[in-house]
Amino acid sequence: MSTDRKLRVAATADVHYGKQSKGKLHEVFDAISGDADVLLICGDLTDYGLPEEAELLAADIRAHVRIPVLAVLGNHDLESGQSEAVSKVMEDAGVRMLNGEAAVIGGVGFAGVCGFGGGFGRQMLNAWGEPLIKSFVQEALDQALRLEQALTQLTTDRRVVLLHYAPIRATVEGESPEIFPFLGSTRLEEPINRFRVDAVFHGHAHNGAAEGATAAQIPVFNVSLPLMQRRSEGGLPLRLFEI
Ligand SMILES: [Fe+2]
Ligand SMILES: [Fe+2]
Repeated sequence: MSTDRKLRVAATADVHYGKQSKGKLHEVFDAISGDADVLLICGDLTDYGLPEEAELLAADIRAHVRIPVLAVLGNHDLESGQSEAVSKVMEDAGVRMLNGEAAVIGGVGFAGVCGFGGGFGRQMLNAWGEPLIKSFVQEALDQALRLEQALTQLTTDRRVVLLHYAPIRATVEGESPEIFPFLGSTRLEEPINRFRVDAVFHGHAHNGAAEGATAAQIPVFNVSLPLMQRRSEGGLPLRLFEI
C-alpha cells in the first residue's frame, strides 16, 4: 500500500461479545472489509472480560475480517481479572492490541490506550484527600502518560488515537451527568492536543454523542456500537473516516 494515499479507517467500540454472541457482527465485518483499509475496535470487546467470550469475537474476526485490526481494552474486558488472556486470544487472531503502544498502517500512525475516568475540565477530580481518591487520579495520569509514550513512538505525519474512555465532555453528552466522571478524563486530551493528532476514536459512553472536538479542534468520534446502531438508519453501524 502506498504511504501517501488516503487510508480508510472503520471504527467501532463496545461490541460486548458474550457467551451467546457467536456471529453477532459477521455481516458488519464482511461488509467493512471491502469498504475500509483498517478496523479499530475501541474497547469493551467482551461483556465480562472472559477469554471464552473473546474466543467468539476472535472467531468472527478470523472468518470475516480481511483487513488489519487494531484494538484497545475497555473496562468490561478487565472485569474478570483475565485481561491478559483476553488480549492473547485477540492477538492470536491477528488483532494488534494497543496498551500504550503504537502501530503504523499505510503510513498512518495509531496510538492506543484504554484511558480512565475522573471527569472533565474544571470539575475534574484532583489528587487530594483520601488515598483512594489519589489512586483513582493516579490511574488517569498513568493512562495519559502511556498515551503520550505511544504518541512519542510515532514519526508519521498522520496520527490517530484509540481510547475506550472519552477525552472530552462533548462526546459523553446524552448520558446522565451524574456518571460523566466515570466516562472519561480531560487528562487524556492534553497529549492529543500537544501531538496534533488528526482524529480520536473512543467508546464507553453508549448513550453519548457521536462527534466532538478537543480544545485544539481535533475531531473526536464516539464510535460505541449502540450509538452507531441508533444513527446508522439501516447502514453499517460504524464510523468510516478517511485520513
Ligand atoms: Fe461498553
Ligand atoms: Fe466501557
